[in-house]
Amino acid sequence: MAEVIIVEDARAGGALVGRALADQLREQPDLVLGLATGSTPSSTYAALAEIVRAESIPVDRLTGFALDEYVGLPAGHPESYREVLIREVVAPLGLDPSQIHVPEMLPDDPQRSGEVYEAAIDAAGGVDVQLLGIGRSGHIGFNEPGSSLASRTRIKTLTEHTRVDNSRFFDSLDDVPIQCMTQGVGTILRAKRLVMLAFGAAKAEGIAAAIEGPLTAAVPASAIQLHEYVTVVVDEAAASRLEHTDSYRSAWAHKPAWQSLLPIGAPRRSDG
Ligand code: PGA
Repeated sequence: MAEVIIVEDARAGGALVGRALADQLREQPDLVLGLATGSTPSSTYAALAEIVRAESIPVDRLTGFALDEYVGLPAGHPESYREVLIREVVAPLGLDPSQIHVPEMLPDDPQRSGEVYEAAIDAAGGVDVQLLGIGRSGHIGFNEPGSSLASRTRIKTLTEHTRVDNSRFFDSLDDVPIQCMTQGVGTILRAKRLVMLAFGAAKAEGIAAAIEGPLTAAVPASAIQLHEYVTVVVDEAAASRLEHTDSYRSAWAHKPAWQSLLPIGAPRRSDG
């Protein structure tokens, strides 16, 4: 069963996961971090950057792999995920931009683009901790409902639903790209640890389906049920459709101190 941690709000969730990542990074300076974009992970990146600065944790051997990227935006477009990650991760943590990898379509060989990204992940030794958001439709990365649970990095067409959701970052819906490149569900499952974050009532249904619903390609996020080490950090609103909150709360409250609270480290309880 996934470890589900119910926190007060996005800030508390970010503090908890940021602390765990910082502790892990101190122990493992060559950590390979799977990076999600969107609004959800922002509080985690902010907390991580603050701790890294305050505690002078070295980051020069950290590597990041983005989950996904739009296809067709001009280089340097502020809403490309590379630029978002430069603003939210590279700059605040003081990384060199070359430490972050983002899936890229090879114009001469689009078909092979996914393989190239997978090979880069393998060459780095695989992702240690993959951060994940969840779309209202239950997508992870840009793996929309119906995506194969064994899929690998590839070029996909975005659903209307996701384009509408993401249009808030663009001037108009027409400006939202039609295509994207995303790690597959199978790629995500190869990470050593998964940490899914969700805040707000709009995520409640997707979270319930992902954690307690049947394993199904109709809800790509339900694939997290197949992973041995997964922690889901949600606020009360995102947890509101879960049935087994009592067991999640008591598992969290009674977790012995010698066990790490997140599988990736030992954040301090006061942070949550
Ligand atoms: P959000 O997006 O963090 O902006 O809500 C999450 C997602 O669509 O995966």
